[in-house]
Amino acid sequence: MKRPQAGIAAAAAVALVAGGVSVLPALAATGQTLAQVATARGFHIGTAAGVKTLASGQWRQVADTQFTSVTMGNEGKWDATEPAQGQFDFAAAAADAIADYASATGKRLRGHTLVWHSQLPAWVSADRPAAEQRQVLLDHVTAVAGHFKGRAGQWDVVNEPFNEDGTLRSSVWFTRLGEDYIADAFTAARAADPAAKLFLNDYNVEGVNAKSTGLYNLVQRLKARGVPIDGVGLQAHLIVGQVPSTLRQNIERFTALGLTVEITELDVRIPLPADAAELAQQAADYRAVVGACAAVTGCTGVTTWGVGEADSWIPAFFPGYGAALLFDEQWRARPAYSAVVEALGGTPTVPEPPATPSLVTVASYPFETGLTGWGSRGGETTAHSTAAAHGGTGSVLSSGRTATWQGPTRPVLDILSPGKLYTVTAWARTASGTGTARLSMQRQNGTATRYENVSANTAISTTWTRLSGDYLFLPGATALSVYLETTDTTGDLYLDDVTIQTEGPPVSQSPSASASASRSPSASPSASPSASKSPSTSPSASRSPSTSASSSGGGTGCAVRYTTNDWGGGFTGDVTVTNTGATAVSGWTLRWTFAGNQRVNQSWGTTLTQTGSAVAASNAAWNGTVAAGASVNFGFLAGYTGANSNPAAFTLNGTACTLR
Ligand code: XIL
Repeated sequence: MKRPQAGIAAAAAVALVAGGVSVLPALAATGQTLAQVATARGFHIGTAAGVKTLASGQWRQVADTQFTSVTMGNEGKWDATEPAQGQFDFAAAAADAIADYASATGKRLRGHTLVWHSQLPAWVSADRPAAEQRQVLLDHVTAVAGHFKGRAGQWDVVNEPFNEDGTLRSSVWFTRLGEDYIADAFTAARAADPAAKLFLNDYNVEGVNAKSTGLYNLVQRLKARGVPIDGVGLQAHLIVGQVPSTLRQNIERFTALGLTVEITELDVRIPLPADAAELAQQAADYRAVVGACAAVTGCTGVTTWGVGEADSWIPAFFPGYGAALLFDEQWRARPAYSAVVEALGGTPTVPEPPATPSLVTVASYPFETGLTGWGSRGGETTAHSTAAAHGGTGSVLSSGRTATWQGPTRPVLDILSPGKLYTVTAWARTASGTGTARLSMQRQNGTATRYENVSANTAISTTWTRLSGDYLFLPGATALSVYLETTDTTGDLYLDDVTIQTEGPPVSQSPSASASASRSPSASPSASPSASKSPSTSPSASRSPSTSASSSGGGTGCAVRYTTNDWGGGFTGDVTVTNTGATAVSGWTLRWTFAGNQRVNQSWGTTLTQTGSAVAASNAAWNGTVAAGASVNFGFLAGYTGANSNPAAFTLNGTACTLR
C-alpha cells in the first residue's frame, strides 16, 4: 500500500523556499496542495480520521499529502477510551492509531473529545452523588489527556455544551455538576497536558446568534476566573448556501478575547443528487469559511470532517444529504478543493486521484480435500463433506448443534495483521429449513472477548448464500478466530469457499485512466501533480536551501540559544537565533539534527519540517528579516523516547552558528 510520495515536509519546504519571505508565497506554476499553501502561511488544514479510514490506502494517499492536521473522529470519545470505569485501552479504542498516524506523517493532532453528552457508555450516567460524578469526569480527563501528553497540539476539552438559545444543555454533566463542570474539565486537562491548547467546541455557533453569544459569555466568565481555556472550535456542519454572513465578525469577537479560533468539523452538505450549480455554490461556501478564518489573526486552522464521500458522516446522519466534503466517491477533488486552495492564496492544480488498490487474498479455504484447520466452537461435530459444495466438490458440515452459537471456526491470528482492513467472504447453506447465518470474528484481547460481526444473511437449504463484509483487525489481540453460526436455529449447517482479502498495491493505471484522471486543463499524464511534487524534479528545486542562503544577502554569523522544557517523553523547545553578522538576514532556515528520536509535533514562529532526525526550521511569513544584531525566536512541541539531549550543532542558511 506504500506509494512513492514526496512527503508534506519536503513539499512544504519547497513551497516556502520558492515563496520568498516578505510576501505571501509566490505561486508555483505547477500548483500547490492544500497542505503546502496552508503550511506556507502558518495555517492548518485538517481532516478527521478514523481507524477504518486509516486502513484505506486511497484515503491515506489523499490525506497524507493534502492535510497538515488530523482529528480523532470517534476513537478519542468516551465510549471508545473508557468503556468501563477505570478501564482505559487506547490501543483497542484505536486512538493511539490516530496519534501514531499524525506523528508518522508530521501532522498536528487534535484530540477529540474529553467531555461530551454523547457517545458516553451507560456507566457514566448511572446514578451517583455529585462528588463522585465530578471524580468520574476528572479521572477521565486526566487519564485521556495524560495518555496523549505532548502529542496533542489541541484538545476539544468540552464538546457541544450549549442549547440553541445559549443556555447550557441539561447533560449528565450540567444537571449533576452545574456550570463548574466546564472549568473542572479545563483545569484537569491543563494539568494533564500543559502543552496542549484547550478548546471548547460546538455547532451552530459560526455566526453571531444566541448560541454563540452564550458561548461568548461563558468563555468570558471562564477567562475572568483564570480557567485555562485557549480557544473555541466552531464545528461548521453547514448546509450549502447557508454560510452565516456574520462568520468573520463572530470569529473576531472571540479572538478579541485573546482566544484562538479554529473551524473544527467543516462540511457543507447538499441535497442529493448534487448538481453542478450546487457544487459551485458549495465551492463558494468553502471559500467563504476558509477565507473568513484565514483573514483573522488568531484563527489558525480549518478541519474538514473527513476527506471524501466514503468517510463522511453526512449520508448516514442527514438522510438525503451528502457530497459535503472536498473529495468525492472516487477521491477526486470537488470544485470546493480549488476554492480552498485559492482562499489560502495558492494556485490549485486538481490532484490526480489515487489509483484503485488491488485485492490480495491472504487466506482461502475451498474445502476440497479436508478441513484445513477448521474445527468446532462447542460440542458439535465438524466434518469434511461432499454432500454439498458451493465450488468444487467439498465443503464443511456442522452437525449435532445444540446451541445457536455452535458452528465451524478457525484461528486466524497469524494470518491477519493488526491495523489492517480485510474483506471476509463465506458461503453458507442449511441442510433443511432456513436460518440466519452470521459470519463473525471472535477476538480476544487478554481476558476480554469480543464477537465482531462481519456479515449476516438468511441461509436456506436449496442454494448457497453469500456472506461478505469488512473487518478491521484492531491491535492488541491475543487470539482471533473466524466462525459461522445461525442465530435462530440449531440445524445442520454447511460452509464453503471462505476467503480473506485485503488491499494490495494499486492496480497500475492504464494511460487512458490516468489521462481522464488529470482534470486540470494544463495537466497531462506526463506532468502529473505527483511528479511535480518531487523536490528534485520541481521547477523550484533550483532554489534549494543552499541557493537561498547565498541569495539571502547577509547573515554571515549566527548564535543559537536552544532550551527545552521537558516532562519525560515530551518537551517544548525554545530557540532564539541571533544574527551576529554585519548585514540583515532576509529569509532564513535553521538546521539541526536531533541526537535521539525526538519528533516534532507542532511548531510556532517557524515553518518546521523534519526528515528523520534532520530538522529545517524556516522563517514564518512575518519574521523572515533579521537585522544585524537582532534575534528571532520560535518554538516547537516534540515527543521522544530514551534521552533528550540537545542538538550539538546548528547552521543558519548553511553557516555554522555558535551556541549560547
Ligand atoms: C460524529 C462521527 O463523525 C460519527 O461517525 C459518529 O457516529 C457520531 O459523531 N459533532 C462532533 C463530532 O463533535 O464528534 C461528531 O462526529 C459530529 C458532530
